[in-house]
Amino acid sequence: MRIEPFRLERYFAAHEFKVRYVLSASDCESMSLAELLEMASPEAALLWQGLRLGYTESQGHPRLREEIAAVYESVAPEGVVVAAPEEAIFIAMHALLEPGDHVVVQTPAYQSLHEVPRAIGCELTLWPLEAGAHGWRLDLGRLEHSLTERTRMVVVNFPHNPSGAMATRGELDAIVALTASRGAWLFSDEMYRLLEHDPADRLLAVADLYEKGISLSGLSKAFGLPGLRIGWLAARDPALPARWLALKDYTTICSSAPSEVLAIAALGTRDRILARNLAIVRANVTEAESFFAAHADHFDWLAPRAGSVAFPRWRGEGTADRLCAGLLDSRGVLLIPGSLFQAPGHVRIGLGRRDLPEGLARLGEYLSSAF
Ligand SMILES: Cc1ncc(COP(=O)(O)O)c(C=O)c1O
Repeated sequence: MRIEPFRLERYFAAHEFKVRYVLSASDCESMSLAELLEMASPEAALLWQGLRLGYTESQGHPRLREEIAAVYESVAPEGVVVAAPEEAIFIAMHALLEPGDHVVVQTPAYQSLHEVPRAIGCELTLWPLEAGAHGWRLDLGRLEHSLTERTRMVVVNFPHNPSGAMATRGELDAIVALTASRGAWLFSDEMYRLLEHDPADRLLAVADLYEKGISLSGLSKAFGLPGLRIGWLAARDPALPARWLALKDYTTICSSAPSEVLAIAALGTRDRILARNLAIVRANVTEAESFFAAHADHFDWLAPRAGSVAFPRWRGEGTADRLCAGLLDSRGVLLIPGSLFQAPGHVRIGLGRRDLPEGLARLGEYLSSAF
């Protein structure tokens, strides 16, 4: 298999652990093991105390799959496969796609959502989100025209990374109907779900909406627990888990035993964790709104509606890449240029970390000194 380097992940690998401020993280502020255990139910605390470090069930701990299934309306624990989120994208697409299949992918996107099908040998059509003056728009007509008789899969991501855009319920229904009209799979990356800034914007999971829908989710973003490396695929089609597990045997075989138990603890107290993280994101959105309003000559803010990232447009002199390189060199602040998402002209801001005000203050200083 020939696969392109993952540009965003390589950029993070080069800088994330050296800089003073990561102003572009997509995850929420993580918590310590002690904090998580302090919130754990008595049952989860007992599981942790009695934890044995053997291999685990390939599909995922049965209690964990029960907790995951409870997030959905119509997915059974048997319809869940636990895997690291990135691994889940890899095995789901390898199980379902063949060279020559046509795949439509919403863009800009987390690179594996288009690069994995491309590496399989699929023919891709990109379906771009459109940046308006103040926010993001979906062009459903364009999606309709992208579909062909050979379309095997449509790939979407709401809440969206990098923009924080959301579909409305009506738009998601239309996406499902268009995908179903071709009998295609709908792969829905829902890593940022449950972090809608207004809970009324929450969409049903695609696995609940469509019999050929696949929902990818996990604990890395909305839960702020990326170090657990726990995610999952959820679907109603009873044939899918076996197909995914046949590939997981070649990636990790099973997930980490401590991580699975900690994931049971996290999901068992999910309302508390999500409320904590949503409070951080909401405070940061307010902070970012006033920062970008004060720097409207340099940026168009493009308000996010959900999740923990935003993708403002750079209006200043020179490229967004130059802005990010200068900010990194002179202030030790990591800001992701949109070119890493094949969307030059934007920068990605992370809204989930408590030190956002300090990072923005340094960005402000840099703007005054360099532009
Ligand atoms: C949209 C999206 N999907 C999947 C992933 C992969 O998650 P993880 O890094 O936990 O494997 C990410 C991570 O940034 C993401 O933003």
